[in-house]
Amino acid sequence: MSATTISFFTGKGGTGKTSSAININVSFRNRGIKILNIDTDTQRNCYNIIAPDFVNYEPNLCNVMNREVSIRQAIQKTSDYHIIPSSDDQNRLNDSITDIKILQESLGEIKNDYDAIFIDNSPAFTKLTYCSIFASDYVLSPCQVSNECLDAVSDLMALVNSTEFKNLNPNFKGVGVFFSQYNLRSKRQNILNRHIVDDFKRLSKILGFKLFSTSIPKNSDITHASANHQNIFQYKIKSPATEAYNQLTEEILDFINLGGE
Ligand SMILES: Nc1ncnc2c1ncn2[C@@H]1O[C@H](COP(=O)(O)OP(=O)(O)O)[C@@H](O)[C@H]1O
Ligand SMILES: [Mg+2]
Repeated sequence: MSATTISFFTGKGGTGKTSSAININVSFRNRGIKILNIDTDTQRNCYNIIAPDFVNYEPNLCNVMNREVSIRQAIQKTSDYHIIPSSDDQNRLNDSITDIKILQESLGEIKNDYDAIFIDNSPAFTKLTYCSIFASDYVLSPCQVSNECLDAVSDLMALVNSTEFKNLNPNFKGVGVFFSQYNLRSKRQNILNRHIVDDFKRLSKILGFKLFSTSIPKNSDITHASANHQNIFQYKIKSPATEAYNQLTEEILDFINLGGE
């Protein structure tokens, strides 16, 4: 077993990175896939949603980056999840990075313990975000149907298609984009959205990212689940959002080479 590392990243806030990192984690786990989540966002949304009884923020990712603890020592285990918390200090986190490949190297120590490692990122292109993407085999990018997200995906593709990136992460395999908070209810919105969806399709061919056909609908069950410190599968198994995350998981599993070299 050698874990496949997946970064959840979109250069725009509130697109569904954290919700997806949690719900796809559970959907993978339901298929017998063993996962570690790493929270790199100083807001710690991921950690606070899935480990509410844990208020133990140390050791965290910062201590790993500083080489104060081994990555294995920073893993916290709840009954359902394995997670490494983030530090809440962005400056300290970024200052702790003396070597851009440090996360990539640290993950190497635990790659045989998991099938997949999910890294939940902030929307900012910080030094830590670069570190995460350099350490990843794939990036999954939840997007709203908006020009801002289209630009964010273009920026991400410019990074992963650069020669510098390819030298630092020669094993990188690809970017997968899906729509989240998808809502095509109003007619006018529908026409506008369809143009933007077409732009995403065109760009996927030009820049070389996978555009998944499953979208996660805008659905308040996702917010309610998180507010209750639950994932969508616990909160409402018959929700359209649960169904969508299940279907998206099948597509993601077809796209990624789980455990492959
Ligand atoms: N498909 C969805 N439908 C409705 N609300 C959603 C959906 N996905 C996420 N949300 C809500 O939107 C907010 C931002 O989502 P989150 O996953 O935290 O985004 P990010 O991590 O990209 O900032 C949260 O309140 C979350 O509950
Ligand atoms: Mg988030």
